[in-house]
Formats: sequence, C-alpha cells, structure tokens
Amino acid sequence: MSFDPVVRLADATRVHGDGPQAVHALKGVSLEVAAGELVAVMGPSGSGKSTLLNLAGGLDTPTSGAVTVEGTPLTSLTDGERAALRRRRVGYVFQDLNLIPSLTAAENVMLPRELDGVRARQARREALEALAEVGLEEPDRFPDELSGGQRQRVAIARPQPGAPRSPRSWRPCGSPAGTSCGPRGAAP
Ligand SMILES: Nc1ncnc2c1ncn2[C@@H]1O[C@H](COP(=O)(O)OP(=O)(O)OP(=O)(O)O)[C@@H](O)[C@H]1O
Ligand SMILES: [Mg+2]
Repeated sequence: MSFDPVVRLADATRVHGDGPQAVHALKGVSLEVAAGELVAVMGPSGSGKSTLLNLAGGLDTPTSGAVTVEGTPLTSLTDGERAALRRRRVGYVFQDLNLIPSLTAAENVMLPRELDGVRARQARREALEALAEVGLEEPDRFPDELSGGQRQRVAIARPQPGAPRSPRSWRPCGSPAGTSCGPRGAAP
C-alpha cells in the first residue's frame, strides 16, 4: 500500500547557537506521519520536543536535513510562503494558547482566515461554526471573560476553519489548569 506522509523529517538536525554555546537540540531525526495518524511526542524536559514540532510545522527550519509538509520541502519556500503554509495547512494549539486579549473569541478564530483574504462576514460565519463545534456558547466574550477550559476550546477552534490536514500536536496529559487530555496545549 502506498504511504504518503503529511509530514516527513529526514535526518533533521537543529543546532541552536554556535561555538562552545551550541545546543544540539535535535540530532538526525527521521520521522513520517501519515494523514489521520495520531502521534504523541514524549520525552523529558529539554529533550527537543518543541524543536521537533517547530520544524514539523514550519515555524523553524533545520540546521541540516529535510522537512517536507504534504510533499513540499520547506527549504524550497520563502519566509512568506512558509507563513502561508502555516496559516493554511498547519494547526497548532499552543501551551499558553496565545489568544489575543483584545479580540473576542470569535475574532480570535476569524483572524487566520482574514489574514488569508477571506471576507470578514464569511470568516465570522466559519468561526461561529467552529466555536459551536467545540461547544463554546460565548463567542463575543473576550479571553479574560472565559474560563480556562473555554479559552482552551477557542484555541482548539482557531486552526480549524482552514481544515488543516497536517497533524495537530497532542497533549497526552492534562494542562496545568487541570483540563482534560486532548489536542495539545503543548509548546511550541
Ligand atoms: N532558541 C534557543 N536557543 C538556545 N537553545 C535552545 C533554544 N531553544 C531550545 N533550546 C535548547 O534546546 C534543547 C531542546 O529544547 P526544546 O524546547 O525543544 O525541549 P522540550 O523537549 O520541548 O522541553 P520542554 O518539555 O521543557 O518543553 C534544550 O536544551 C533547550 O535549552
Ligand atoms: Mg517544549
């Protein structure tokens, strides 16, 4: 059976800094993730999990080796093209959620679509659908007017309007707030 990975890392290395201060965060990691596959990246603090996820999602580029997302080698892209790929194809739910405090829940979810040129009215309609899907009934509240679990659901809804096929990072254990396991609030 043919296997067409959504993400492929081939001998990927990431060194932070140089000289005696250089940190070899990833040493020759090869990994393939198929569409629909659920992968948990586990390891002690400092072992390179965020570095790996940053590379797999196009937030960072490897020092050596190759990263391919849906057949596109990331090193072949300009910074702008990588930013577009992240908006359209990659969904991250960050550990600290990264909601913009001055935007409502709906506006936070709309923003990536609007950056992609979708008109505000359509972006809002899609955002409200995504928020309804995760059971958020307060789309016009600001993040500081929501509970921790509600904020987490806004963050989960945010990447979904673009229906990314790339794998989302997954948090195997609860967030510090004690919310349940699920699509991860993990760093990057
Ligand atoms: N920008 C940076 N400059 C220098 N070193 C870095 C940088 N980012 C990460 N590192 C180092 O690279 C190594 C891997 O870090 P990384 O953030 O990938 O770990 P992690 O597995 O995600 O850890 P945690 O579970 O604590 O989040 C660590 O030693 C870290 O100190
Ligand atoms: Mg980390």
